[in-house]
Amino acid sequence: MMAAAVQVAPSGLEGVVVTDTQIGDVRGTEGFFQYRGYDATDLARNCRLEEVWHLLLYGDLPDTTEADRFTDRIAGLRRDFTPALFDRVHQVTAGATDRVAALRTAWSLAAADLGARPWLDLSPQQRIDQALALAAVGPLLVAATHRPGVAADLDDLPASTAAAYLQLVTGEAAKPDRVTALERYLVLTIDHGLNASTFTARVVASTGADLGAVLVAAVGALSGPLHGGAPSLALEMLDDIATPDRAEAWIRDAVGRGERIMGFGHRIYRTEDPRARLLRETAQELGGPRIDLALHVEQTARRVLRELKPDRVLDVNVEYHAAIVMDAAGLPPALFTPTFAVSRAIGWTAHALEQMDGNRIMRPNSRYTGPEPVRPIRPR
Ligand SMILES: CC(C)(COP(=O)(O)OP(=O)(O)OC[C@H]1O[C@@H](n2cnc3c(N)ncnc32)[C@H](O)[C@@H]1OP(=O)(O)O)[C@@H](O)C(=O)NCCC(=O)NCCS
Repeated sequence: MMAAAVQVAPSGLEGVVVTDTQIGDVRGTEGFFQYRGYDATDLARNCRLEEVWHLLLYGDLPDTTEADRFTDRIAGLRRDFTPALFDRVHQVTAGATDRVAALRTAWSLAAADLGARPWLDLSPQQRIDQALALAAVGPLLVAATHRPGVAADLDDLPASTAAAYLQLVTGEAAKPDRVTALERYLVLTIDHGLNASTFTARVVASTGADLGAVLVAAVGALSGPLHGGAPSLALEMLDDIATPDRAEAWIRDAVGRGERIMGFGHRIYRTEDPRARLLRETAQELGGPRIDLALHVEQTARRVLRELKPDRVLDVNVEYHAAIVMDAAGLPPALFTPTFAVSRAIGWTAHALEQMDGNRIMRPNSRYTGPEPVRPIRPR
C-alpha cells in the first residue's frame, strides 16, 4: 500500500474528520444534535433512558414491551456483578476527594470482575454483552465510591436506571420530578460527536484493548475541566458570586485575569447549546434557591463575554445548567462529573462497538520540532 500523503492537522484537531459514524452528529451553526436520526432533545423530552440506550446500541427505538424487557435486562446485569466488588470499590476509593478518579479505578475493578478480554478477541454478541454490562454497572460504581453497603440495596432498586441511581446515591427513593430531571440530563449527555473522551474511547478500542481500558481512558479524558469537569466549577462560581449584584464585576474581573467562565463556550456550537436550553427549562421546573441567581449570572456572562470577546461566539454550554439540575435533583457536586460519565459510558461503548466495523488502529503522526540529530555518541 502507498504511504498516505502527510497532512498537518490544525491545533486541537479542529474541523478534522477522523472517522465515519452512524451514532450521532452535532451541527454547530444550527444548534442541533441527533442520535441515529432523532433530535436528541426530543428524545430527552419524550423517552426513557433505556429506550435511547436501545436506540444507540441496536439502531432502533423499542416498543413498550421491548423497552420494559431491555430495562429489566439492564437491571439484571447490574446484579450479575459480584456483590463483593462494590465493597472492594468502597474500600479502595473511600476518602478520595476526586470522585472521577475513584470511578476510573472502580471501572477497572468492574472490568476485571466481568472478565473483560481484548475487544478484538470477542464475538460481536460478546462485545454487546460486555458493553451493556459495563455501562449498566456505572451507577452502582459511583454510589459505591460515595457510600458503603451499596450491594445490600441491590434487591430493592427500581428497574429505571435514573431512579436506581438517585436511590443508590441518596439512600432513599427519589421523587418522580427529580428522576425525570436526571433522566433528561442523562439522555442529553449520552453522545455528542467526536468529543475528546469519545475520540479517546475509539482510539483505545482501535488497539483491540479490553473494554475496561476503553472506559478508564475515556473517563480520564472526561475528567478535565475543559471537557466534563466543568459543572461543579460552574456551581462554585455561583456560590462565589452569591448575589446578583456581584455578577457583573465578578465576571469582568475573571475574564480580565484571562480566566474562562465555566459553562460557557464550545468547540462546535456557535449558538446556544441545545442541551443547555432543555436543562434550563428543567432547572426552572425543579425550582430551588440557586435558579434565579443562575439565570441572572447567565444573562450577565453572555453580555459581558460578547463585549470582551467580540471575535468568538461564547454562549452557554451543557455544563452550566447541568450543575443546577443535578444539584436540584439531590446529587452532591463531587458526583456531577461521575454522573456525566454514567451516561456518556453508553455513548463510549456504542462507539467502541462501531469502531470494530472495518477497524484499523488509529495511529497519526507528529511533526518533530526538536534539535537536529547530533553526532553519534562515541563509545567510551
Ligand atoms: C469548551 C472550550 C474548551 C472550547 O475551547 P476551544 O474551542 O479550544 O476554544 P479556544 O480555547 O480556542 O477559545 C477561543 C477564545 O475564546 C475564549 N474563551 C473560550 N471559552 C471561554 C470561556 N468559557 N470564558 C472566557 N473566554 C473563553 C478563549 O480565551 C479564546 O480567547 P482568545 O482568543 O482571546 O485567547 C472552552 O470554551 C472552555 O474552556 N470553556 C470553559 C470550560 C467549559 O465550560 N467546558 C465544558 C465544555 S462542554
